[in-house]
Amino acid sequence: MTNSNNDLASLQQQASLRRSIEADVTRLFAQEDEALRYSLSTAKQEGLPEIQISPVQGKFLQLMSAACNARKILEIGSLAGYSGIWLARSLPSDGHLITLEVNPHHADVVRRAFTRAGIDDRAEVRVGKALDLLPQLESQAPFDLVFIDADKAPYPQYLEWALRLSRPGSIIVADNCIRGGSALRSPEEGTNDDVVRGVYEYNRRIASHPRLVSLVLPMDEDYTDGFAISVVRY
Ligand code: SAH
Ligand code: DHB
Ligand code: MG
Repeated sequence: MTNSNNDLASLQQQASLRRSIEADVTRLFAQEDEALRYSLSTAKQEGLPEIQISPVQGKFLQLMSAACNARKILEIGSLAGYSGIWLARSLPSDGHLITLEVNPHHADVVRRAFTRAGIDDRAEVRVGKALDLLPQLESQAPFDLVFIDADKAPYPQYLEWALRLSRPGSIIVADNCIRGGSALRSPEEGTNDDVVRGVYEYNRRIASHPRLVSLVLPMDEDYTDGFAISVVRY
């Protein structure tokens, strides 16, 4: 076998190992039940994009929720309610999840999924552009956990709102903060990819923000994407 064949075989072995590790972690720690699978299958039937978080990420959100004793959670970007179900299930019975969604069709699927999951008493979808809805949430603040997963260009603005609507000890999580590494490097001067710009600027701010302790963790898309996690300091 040539060297490059050898290298290729070993890369394939590593990739297959990563997949089997993720499958084992999912089976041990993050199994989906009927309601989560209903959210996924309805989303597919209704032609929504398959861009929800992974089961491991869902369980990670529950871990963060437990760490900050969450009673009030804010989500930006609902899609079909998949992440919303993981989040709402981490709440006590008098807890509350507000999730913001710009697309009314998506919001309709979310409401059905929340009903199916039996969480419609504590999970609420609000329809509109997040930047229009966020100012109306000040009376409900502080949120213990904020999960950012909507359009990427305004991530820096979503961060400002998350900080404004949180308390010391709150946790702010944002999805898609690695993007194959592109979101970790300063975009070339003149780059007009506002997605990469937005997420890079988000990372840059949380990395050095005096009120935050932050890290990005590879945990999705074969460890090429993942969450940025920030804790608001006391
Ligand atoms: N958190 C979901 C995935 C969200 S996908 C999950 O893991 O299950 C991103 C969602 O954000 C889409 O449904 C999209 O319609 C919505 N979105 C995009 N731009 C938005 C905006 N400006 N305000 C609110 N929602 C937005
Ligand atoms: C995409 C993936 C996401 O997780 C998301 O929140 C938005 C877009 C994507 O792959 O296009
Ligand atoms: Mg996402």
